[in-house]
Amino acid sequence: MKVAFVLLSSLRLGAGFPGMMGVGRNSSPKPISKRTEPSVRQPLFLSKRPNTGITNPHPTFNATAQFVDVGPHSGHEFQAPGPNDRRGPCPGLNAAANHGFIPHNGILTAADGECLESTTAGVYSLTIVALKGLDEAFNVGPTFSVGASAVGVVYAGDFLTGTWSIGGKYPGSVPLLTDPPGLLGTHSKYEADGSPTRGDAYLNGGNVDVLDMNYFAQLYNLGTEYTHDIVAAHAEYCQAYSKANNPYFFLGPIGAFLSPGTNGLIINMMSNHSADIPGGTLTRDVLKSFYSVTGEPGSFVYKPGYERIPDNWYKRPDSFGLEDIGSDAQMNNLMYPGQISLGGNTGKVNTFTGVDPGNLTGGVFNAANLFQGNNLACFVLQATQQAVPGQFSGLLGNIGDLVKWLADILGPITKELGCPQLDVFRKEMFAPFPGAESYLH
Ligand code: HEM
Repeated sequence: MKVAFVLLSSLRLGAGFPGMMGVGRNSSPKPISKRTEPSVRQPLFLSKRPNTGITNPHPTFNATAQFVDVGPHSGHEFQAPGPNDRRGPCPGLNAAANHGFIPHNGILTAADGECLESTTAGVYSLTIVALKGLDEAFNVGPTFSVGASAVGVVYAGDFLTGTWSIGGKYPGSVPLLTDPPGLLGTHSKYEADGSPTRGDAYLNGGNVDVLDMNYFAQLYNLGTEYTHDIVAAHAEYCQAYSKANNPYFFLGPIGAFLSPGTNGLIINMMSNHSADIPGGTLTRDVLKSFYSVTGEPGSFVYKPGYERIPDNWYKRPDSFGLEDIGSDAQMNNLMYPGQISLGGNTGKVNTFTGVDPGNLTGGVFNAANLFQGNNLACFVLQATQQAVPGQFSGLLGNIGDLVKWLADILGPITKELGCPQLDVFRKEMFAPFPGAESYLH
């Protein structure tokens, strides 16, 4: 039965829409060249929060604990990726791999990390890659690293071995079957439209490994030092741009959270910290280093996979979890109501239609409570759990192994976050959206 699971998951994950299957880093996308600049809303207010986000108590600075040494003889010097190393849509993971905080080849296994952190909910499972290296590099906490990598194993990897790839596909544990796809093969399941700099799949012939220089320049030109309020405006631009140009624009449970959430990660995770500004500051040079971009507006050059942690860089002071990504995204949603929305365009541009979270979840999460407490993070994790059986059924008589594996890993996290019980998930509500095809099948 496990063999059948691998076969099914591998067969299905690449299928987004016609022309998308198998498209990867070295393919030749056929981009849609006609583009429309969108009109963008103004925020209802500015939050003026520090770059550490909505933190309580106030940020502090400890040079020894926060310095991330990537200098000579540190053991974390930059090493460019080789031809067989995987790199993908996440600049944080790419940079961590280039500096050896996670495996340089970009394929993560259970042996790469450990997570014995005690929490009120108990002890996290040892079987999941907890990415100790991401904690060292960025101060990523367990709800983020365990939750995000569990979803990585489900959609981008091979749960028989607990492996996943931060980039393209790799040989799975069962020879002769289609390979696990890596993050680059997870469009609309994990990798999503409306990203801060990555172009939408549809607009790039199915290739999700494209840094859209229009997006990067748009962000770059919003300031000389970046804040949460600036990236909230950028998230608004990216979504408006996708709605106005991509008839397949789709935001499923993870995508709706990722679009504002990853914009927030730019500020929360990439900012440099100091005694003078413990809340952090993000300059243009640091942004370019993390995004592997050189040059100036008009002559920017992006070198794929060369994302780099800058010299003299100090990470955030506190552990950052999935619930913190949720809090920041919620604040942005107050500034721009509806910035977190489930749904998509219905086959034509500017036809965005929302899906009511209350109907989707049998009332457990609704438009009001989704933005309270830890509910947004809960929704993302629990919707993933609920969606898995439908996504991997069909050829399988039993997917109990995967469902149990996921429940064992995510159980302590959802308990710690105080998540309500979710039993209903009407995934078929996404059927009207053509961009949901690969999410649904
Ligand atoms: C296990 C940990 C992680 C996983 C599984 C993960 C996964 C992903 C995925 C799938 C995307 C693509 C999202 C999309 O298409 O919209 C993404 C984007 C992103 N991630 Fe990560 N990530 C992780 C950790 C981190 C860390 C530690 C950072 C810190 C710098 C980070 C920063 C970002 C940013 C800024 C983006 C947006 C990229 C862009 O479009 O410009 N991530 N990540």
